[in-house]
Amino acid sequence: MDSPGCGRVGTHSIEKQYCKERKPFPFDRKSVNTEIATTESPESTDMAVQAAVQMLNAGEAIGLPTETVYGLAADAFNEEAVGKVFEAKGRPKFDPLIVHLPSKAALADVAVVSEELEKVVNVLTNQFWPGPLTILLPKKPAVPDIVTAGLDTVAVRMSEHPVFRKIIKEFGRPVAAPSANRFGRISPTSAAAVQEELGGLIPLIVDGGACGRGLESTIVRLEPPEGGEVTAKGKKRKPRIEIVRAGPITAEDLKNFGIVIRPRRGARAEAVAGAPGQMASHYAPATPLRVLTDPGDFKPEPGKRYGLLSFRGEAEDGYLSLTDWSEVAVLSPGSGKMMEAAIRFFFLLRKLDNSGVDEIIAEPMADRGLGMAMMDRLRRASTRVPEDE
Ligand code: TXA
Ligand code: MG
Repeated sequence: MDSPGCGRVGTHSIEKQYCKERKPFPFDRKSVNTEIATTESPESTDMAVQAAVQMLNAGEAIGLPTETVYGLAADAFNEEAVGKVFEAKGRPKFDPLIVHLPSKAALADVAVVSEELEKVVNVLTNQFWPGPLTILLPKKPAVPDIVTAGLDTVAVRMSEHPVFRKIIKEFGRPVAAPSANRFGRISPTSAAAVQEELGGLIPLIVDGGACGRGLESTIVRLEPPEGGEVTAKGKKRKPRIEIVRAGPITAEDLKNFGIVIRPRRGARAEAVAGAPGQMASHYAPATPLRVLTDPGDFKPEPGKRYGLLSFRGEAEDGYLSLTDWSEVAVLSPGSGKMMEAAIRFFFLLRKLDNSGVDEIIAEPMADRGLGMAMMDRLRRASTRVPEDE
């Protein structure tokens, strides 16, 4: 049975019940023993790599570190293995997975790069791979439909995490890997967070330490220059690079390589053509979350416990003195550096979620660069789809 997410797509009353009580979905899953393989020394890393490759070869879904967030990885060409990814996450089958490649050359095994797009694909992959850029391209028939949710496109990227690279190189084939959280929940940026999300549901988590980027990859869709690469007067036209999901590779990073189209805000899954996973409600803590654009709008309710997700933790920003906060989590203390904030973002959101407060209040950030990616996550985390939708 597919296990739709928390009140977002499901119609089964038992699922709604679990949503209300904010419990993990139990369904009829078997409980397995989850091993954690460490990578603290060259020897333990070798052992972890061997264990991971063995599991992937055996058709298992396992937790692996990437530079963005931890992924739940399975052999992309093994339908049954990919099925385990959906099952462990409780992810609906209409939400496709990103295929991670062992090498740039492996792109040709999974995707079709048309003549028109060859140049921009080459430029982007030379510039950003391995790294946190995912590209949507027409898929090759070898990629099972379950990976792409029946779409004719496939999302591809190449992770730059050293442990991930060792594992996938040794495995030698692409792996399909979404973030290693239960569907719709906060992405994990440490092995402990994966254990919290999927412990007992998967056999292995490779601990590669905290993720260096902290936010999921940027996803782009490409379009060749309209009317050809060169105008009648010999001027060059640029391809279009549409950001489907904001991430560590920013609009500013991409603008040298084409006309960048920024993501549409708050669009519902069905409304975003070709991006079925970009639901309005996503990355959600169990605790209600609100982005407070104007501190003057805050009217604390008596007896309610509030947690603050602050950008710099500075009194002058007007948030610290609003109430007697039960918890304050600061993304980048003092300096307000976007990169530091991004690395700590999901970790602190998870911490606030686990702290027992009744509501999380988030300070807004500048909606550009990495701030655009974090604001996107905060908006989705704050959107709750009505019960009967
Ligand atoms: O950084 C990342 O991208 C992490 C790490 C593990 O690589 N992965 C990740 O996967 O964030 P996931 O499944 O949590 O998010 C991937 C998003 C989903 O919203 C999915 O709907 C979308 O990519 N996606 C995947 N294939 C697609 C396709 N063919 N067309 C449109 N959207 C697609
Ligand atoms: Mg995800």
